[in-house]
Amino acid sequence: MIEYENLKKLNERFYTEYKDAFGKVLDSGRFILGQEVDSFEKEFANYCGAKYCIGVANGLEALTIAIKAFEFKEGSEIIVPSNTYIATILAVIHAGMVPVLTEPDILTYNLTLEGIEKKITSKTVAILPVHLYGNPVYMSEIMQYAHDYNLKVIEDAAQAHGAEVDGHKIGSFGDATCFSFYPTKNLGALGDGGAITTDDCEFANRIRSYRNYGSSIRYKNDYIGYNSRLDELQAAFLRIKLRHLDEITNHKRYLAKIYHENLDETQYIMQHIREECKSVFHVFNIRTNKRDRLKEYLAQKGIYTDIHYPTSPIHQKALKGMFNTELTPISDEIHKTILSLPISLIHNESDIGDVCDALKEFENIEG
Ligand SMILES: Cc1ncc(COP(=O)(O)O)c(C=O)c1O
Repeated sequence: MIEYENLKKLNERFYTEYKDAFGKVLDSGRFILGQEVDSFEKEFANYCGAKYCIGVANGLEALTIAIKAFEFKEGSEIIVPSNTYIATILAVIHAGMVPVLTEPDILTYNLTLEGIEKKITSKTVAILPVHLYGNPVYMSEIMQYAHDYNLKVIEDAAQAHGAEVDGHKIGSFGDATCFSFYPTKNLGALGDGGAITTDDCEFANRIRSYRNYGSSIRYKNDYIGYNSRLDELQAAFLRIKLRHLDEITNHKRYLAKIYHENLDETQYIMQHIREECKSVFHVFNIRTNKRDRLKEYLAQKGIYTDIHYPTSPIHQKALKGMFNTELTPISDEIHKTILSLPISLIHNESDIGDVCDALKEFENIEG
C-alpha cells in the first residue's frame, strides 16, 4: 500500500527531538509568547530572508491579520486567484474587504499579470498571490506591477515554505507574506500555527499588537485585535522542523523529478514551473479528463491520492450569491481534472516508481 500521507510516520524521525523540546517547554512554565516563539520568529525570518516574522495561531489568521493591519478603507478590493483554497478568500472577507476573483494561468495554476490587469479598479488596494501547491508566482514581475500601481502585495505562502523566485525565498518579496504550519505542510507543526513575514518595522509591530488583543503594552488596547498567538510548544516543534526543512524540500524535489522523468506529458498534464521559480512541491498533481476513474483505479491497486480541491470556492455554499459562477472556466477545468499524487517524506524512489507504473498501466487500459 502507498498512502497519500501519514503524519505519524512522517514525524517519527523527529520523535526524540520533539520529546526533548516538550520537556524543555514544560519545565520553563512559559506557554504563550516566550523564548521559543521569539527564537522561532528570528530563525524563520532569517530563513526567508525577511527582517521580521510574527508567529500567529494559523494560516487563515495570518492572512486576516495581515490584511486588517494595513487598515485599508472598508470595502476595498483585493485581487485573489479563483482556484485557491477557500481560506484565502475567507481571510479577505473576515478583514472586511471584497475579494475579486481572478482566473489563474492554465499551466502554472497561478495568478498572471494579464489576469490581474483585467480586474484592477479604482477600489483595488492589494494583490494577494497564492503560491499554489508550492509553485511560486513570479514575484519579481508582481512586485514591479504593484509598485507602479501603488498596490500592496500580501502573499499566501501557506504551501510554499522555502520556494524561490530569482534565487530569493518566498517571504522576502511582498509587503506581507503569510504562512500556515498546519501539520501536513512542508513545515508542519504538531497542531495549528502560522506566521507573517515583512520588512516593515512599524507594520510588524502593528501585527504583533493585532495578534494579542490589539495590545502591545499589558492592558492597553490600541486596536480591535485578535487572540491569535503561536504557542510555545508549537514554536519549539517548528524550530526542530525548520532545521530539517531543506532536507524535506530536497526529498520532495527528488520525488518530483522521478514523476517528471517518467510521466508522459501528452497523457498527464503537470503543473508548469517557470524557469525563474523553484517549487517546493507541497503537492504534486497531474491533470486528466479521466480523473475520477484514475483515482478509483489507483485505490484498487492500494495507491492513495487526494484532490486539491474537489470544489472551487466560488461553488461553495458558504459563498453562494457572492460571485458570478459562470466566470471561472479555467478554475473550473482545473478543479474537475486535478489529482494529487503521493509525494511525502514517507515515500521513497520505489514508491514513486510504482505510482508511475500504475499510471502507465491505466493509460494502456484506457487507450
Ligand atoms: C493556500 C492556503 N491558504 C491558507 C490556508 C490556511 O491555513 P490554516 O489551515 O493554517 O489556517 C491553507 C491551509 O490549509 C492553504 O492551503
